[in-house]
Amino acid sequence: MRIVLLGAPGAGKGTQAGVLSKKLDIPHISTGDIFRANIQNGTELGLKAKEFIDSGKLVPDDLTINIVKDRLLKRDCQKGFILDGFPRTIPQAESLDNELNGLGIKLDAAINLEVPDEVIVNRMKGRRVCGKCGKPYNIHTLKPKQEGVCDVCGGPLLIRDDDKEETVRERLRVYYKNTEPLIGYYDSKGILYNFDGTKDIGVTTGEIIDKLEQIRKDRTGGFE
Ligand code: AP5
Ligand code: MG
Repeated sequence: MRIVLLGAPGAGKGTQAGVLSKKLDIPHISTGDIFRANIQNGTELGLKAKEFIDSGKLVPDDLTINIVKDRLLKRDCQKGFILDGFPRTIPQAESLDNELNGLGIKLDAAINLEVPDEVIVNRMKGRRVCGKCGKPYNIHTLKPKQEGVCDVCGGPLLIRDDDKEETVRERLRVYYKNTEPLIGYYDSKGILYNFDGTKDIGVTTGEIIDKLEQIRKDRTGGFE
């Protein structure tokens, strides 16, 4: 399956993508995680991206699009992928379509997680992320087994620099201006599926899996 995850900052894209990636055995590609890894490693890309991310703005399209193009050419994407946080602008969506067209493939689904702004602002206050593997936690709703330590890789759990309340509100503003129009973009292509992202994480995952199964049945004989 080739999937795009849409939703405001904090809607649960990374959380759902992590689970779906394991269940469907396809790579989880998060542009946010790629930027954060580059910032941590002090690369040129990281240096360029940091000022935008820390202020809640979008990293310019030219930087972002090339990263995803390169990643989609990797062998593990042949069986499918989940894009989390990309595309985020109409030009990014169009360039993704062009790239996939060139490879002779198409997206199967754009999964949109719907969560009200105030729920998001509250969630972000409790979010922690693993500094090593990027897995998201929440000190209220999704605690690690041992405080401050990632269940999966043992890495330290950190507060993201862009999770300050004023930055979260700026990210929401940027989302409504630049990214929300993608809902209409994918709806017009007939591949938009909306989900209530305020339900329990596992309930939403189950609903998404059921929908993907239905899409797959309508088309072929098994998950790709
Ligand atoms: P990115 O890392 O993509 O951030 P984001 O889109 O703002 O989304 P988040 O990662 O904050 O939230 P999420 O939806 O993944 O939620 P999560 O699962 O963690 O991007 C960061 C920055 O990089 C951008 O601001 C931009 O500057 C730049 N960037 C990235 N991609 C770009 C692009 N394509 N173009 C340009 N710039 C780009 O969940 C949030 C919290 O809620 C967690 O604590 C989690 O445990 C909890 N939670 C999740 N689901 C539930 C639930 N159902 N119930 C209760 N709690 C839940
Ligand atoms: Mg995320």
